[in-house]
Amino acid sequence: MDLVRETPDEEITAENLPPDKVPTHVAVIMDGNGRWARQRGLPRIAGHRAGTENLREILRACVEFGVKILTIYAFSTENWGRPEEEVQELMSILRDVIDCELDELHQEGVQLRHLGDLSKVEEELRHKIYHAIDLTKNNDRLILNVAFNYGGRAEIIHAIREIVEHGYKPEEITEELVSHYLYTGDLPDPDLIIRTSGELRLSNFLIWQSAYAEYYFPEVYWPDFNRQELYKALLHYAQRDRRFGLIE
Ligand code: FPP
Repeated sequence: MDLVRETPDEEITAENLPPDKVPTHVAVIMDGNGRWARQRGLPRIAGHRAGTENLREILRACVEFGVKILTIYAFSTENWGRPEEEVQELMSILRDVIDCELDELHQEGVQLRHLGDLSKVEEELRHKIYHAIDLTKNNDRLILNVAFNYGGRAEIIHAIREIVEHGYKPEEITEELVSHYLYTGDLPDPDLIIRTSGELRLSNFLIWQSAYAEYYFPEVYWPDFNRQELYKALLHYAQRDRRFGLIE
């Protein structure tokens, strides 16, 4: 299959993806919003808004193509260091998504989960997040993990603290136990991690869970990562030979 060639629209269908090679869990570092905005002479926040709008298309496409879990990196523990105005705008975006999109997400069968530490998030927003999680907890069409005030190292420290608090003995510490106490809990690890905008870094995202993930780094900025781009990513993934350390 020639992956360089653009796939014509009519060929972008779930039927054209090998069904046994669609990743169950896709995780995305939605990078390039700021550069997308700068290219257009717009403020950075316009890029974040465009990126949020793009999420709708990608959520729909995930359901269409058979992806069961989508994890998005929406706000990292390092993002607090951005200018206060941008931090507040990112908080507002999450607030607006919950206020305006929650009913539809619920009707569409999306289960919302949160990865990260909400203790630093303002109380009203925190309660909105808890409400959204509780409302959608029985949905099973697509799990959407929103990593918000998330950092991979902080997540591992949090898991270690939980394990110590629960009084486990050294010989009881296993990979399964550590995984269980991560924010992703008993969800399967991501099969495919996508970082848009051409940057080749993991930036503290799912550092434990990504041990055997496949990576895909498209050049496009996140607001331009559309259904066709996701399809291309899934085609690339389908061609990978995952061996998990074995030889065949
Ligand atoms: C990286 O682009 C993007 C972010 C730090 C935030 C991404 C957030 C959204 C798309 C909205 C999130 C949606 C929800 C549900 C809260 P960048 O700003 O680093 O771009 P740059 O590298 O081009 O400057």
